[in-house]
Amino acid sequence: MAGRIPRDFIDQLLARVDIVDLIDARVKLKKSGKNHSACCPFHNEKSPSFTVSQDKQFYHCFGCGAHGNALDFVMEYDRLEFLDAIEELASMLGMEVPREQGHGTHQPQAPKLTSHYELMDWAARYFQLQLRKHPQRPKVIDYIRNRGLDGDTVKRFGIGFAPDGWDNLQSQHKHNPDGLKVLTECGMLIAKEGGGRSYDRFRDRLMFPIRDRRGRVVAFGGRVLGEGTPKYLNSPETPIFHKGGELYGLYELKQHDRNPARILVVEGYMDVVALAQHGVPYAVASLGTSTTADQMQLLVRTSKQVICCYDGDNAGREAAWRAMETALPHLRDGIQLKFMFLPDGEDPDSLVRKQGKDAFEALVEKAMPLSDYLFDTLLADADLSSQEGKAHLATLMEPLLNRVPDGLLKESLFARLRTELGWGADSLRQRSTPKAGQPAGVQGRGTPVRRAIALLQQQPELGHQLPVQEELQYLEMAGLPLLREMLEICRPEALTTGQLMERFRGRPEHGTLSKLLNWKLEIADESAFRQEFTDCLLWLNQRFFEQMSEQLQRKARDGSISTEELRQLQEMNLLLQGLKAPAKASD
Ligand code: UTP
Ligand code: MN
Repeated sequence: MAGRIPRDFIDQLLARVDIVDLIDARVKLKKSGKNHSACCPFHNEKSPSFTVSQDKQFYHCFGCGAHGNALDFVMEYDRLEFLDAIEELASMLGMEVPREQGHGTHQPQAPKLTSHYELMDWAARYFQLQLRKHPQRPKVIDYIRNRGLDGDTVKRFGIGFAPDGWDNLQSQHKHNPDGLKVLTECGMLIAKEGGGRSYDRFRDRLMFPIRDRRGRVVAFGGRVLGEGTPKYLNSPETPIFHKGGELYGLYELKQHDRNPARILVVEGYMDVVALAQHGVPYAVASLGTSTTADQMQLLVRTSKQVICCYDGDNAGREAAWRAMETALPHLRDGIQLKFMFLPDGEDPDSLVRKQGKDAFEALVEKAMPLSDYLFDTLLADADLSSQEGKAHLATLMEPLLNRVPDGLLKESLFARLRTELGWGADSLRQRSTPKAGQPAGVQGRGTPVRRAIALLQQQPELGHQLPVQEELQYLEMAGLPLLREMLEICRPEALTTGQLMERFRGRPEHGTLSKLLNWKLEIADESAFRQEFTDCLLWLNQRFFEQMSEQLQRKARDGSISTEELRQLQEMNLLLQGLKAPAKASD
């Protein structure tokens, strides 16, 4: 492996390339105001939400969240690995890629990831090919027909066939040890204990590829053709697959409808697929486990109406209750959560095949709103004839209702509880809920530290030649180490957003920074940007002086303060008054 590519070179590369030209050569851009826009090349859309900023040297899609600098674009669009993307940009600009000597084995993380996606994509295509070509095709086609699936649906969901045998996948990569390693990391091959030969995980199964939000295959569910255990074999957790963060069928649904009016959560792969075939294309499955908080968040972001669909049996009722508890913190006003229970012995697949779309949708229409579900369930076991019974119900309800974000829904749930109990307004403790479930994109003004980070990220020149902020070095506060590091990076040279983000590739902070990118700062103009940034730094300075002053005051109280410190304290207090004064003047 050749040596590492020097940081400086990547900086130069990003300084020379113009992201607008680069993208425009692949996706026609239209100038709109300061930015350029187009329909996003990474998801299907009719009106453009993909924007490219020349100043920032950065692109961002408000629809699917895709974003990055010139390198990210080449990696995503041309499906290149990190090093190849660098080579590609360099050759476009007629630059030679230098290599550092020595650390031959060190590599950034990104190329590994790309090849995970590539190999999973390859595996999906391999399974689809087997469905068309393998000698055992007839038995598989029989199974598919018996389950009532048509060719279009099979194609739409990319369903395939993993033939029987221990090394079908493996033998395709005999001469590609790196590929074998990645396939193993992806859970497609299982390494035998003690370093023996590996073998294929999926054998003689119908294969359902699980795609992430951008349509990349990240995992599979494989069903036995008939009877056998386990009925479904699933990919394990891997570097590119976190079961609790994906929803089966979400990508396919969004291809069909970017903004579905409602979304139905069902249990099984087959349910999603059969519903789609029968004209109910808005179902997704939560991959076998109960719905996680991440999945809930994804659901309420996809549609304003989320309907959870369960079997009518005990297991189904328990699953529904767990889903409801998980959902409560995500129920901002405007989001509707509903529950539907199926007749005994049926699942959505069997029901829609027997009774058709209209009958199934009639059930969907009749789904219970959250409030009915919640009250019906708890009232069923409550004894409202005694004060003890009422108190018991209140004890169960209060903490549940307090998980709902502040707003009309919460108010109305509390009002209903008071009515049921015949109690007055003061008798229940309605607490203010902290804002929950907002990791993607920050709302509101955020803390000054986050705000300063976001401002700096969007306009790194704010930090160019900014004097070292001594006070910030001593202050302890969440996010401050990241802000300090960004200030260090921005001080010596004028960078673009794209260059600044590049410094964090592969680091955990990259995630935080990506989220902050989605934060619309709502700032009028350039000078306001700088003012806002200065205000944040000023605020931080003030916190530092306050911390110092508190420390010294404590010393003053217990008599351990020296004359020098006393002088400092007085100075500090004067300074603090000075810092607060301009803010008052501007009010
Ligand atoms: P079900 O047992 O209800 O299966 O499991 P199903 O979806 O109705 O499947 P068919 O109709 O018999 O083909 C519901 C979901 O639970 C997960 C799968 O995601 C499945 O779709 N599951 C079930 C597993 O992961 N492994 C299993 O062995 C069984
Ligand atoms: Mn089923």
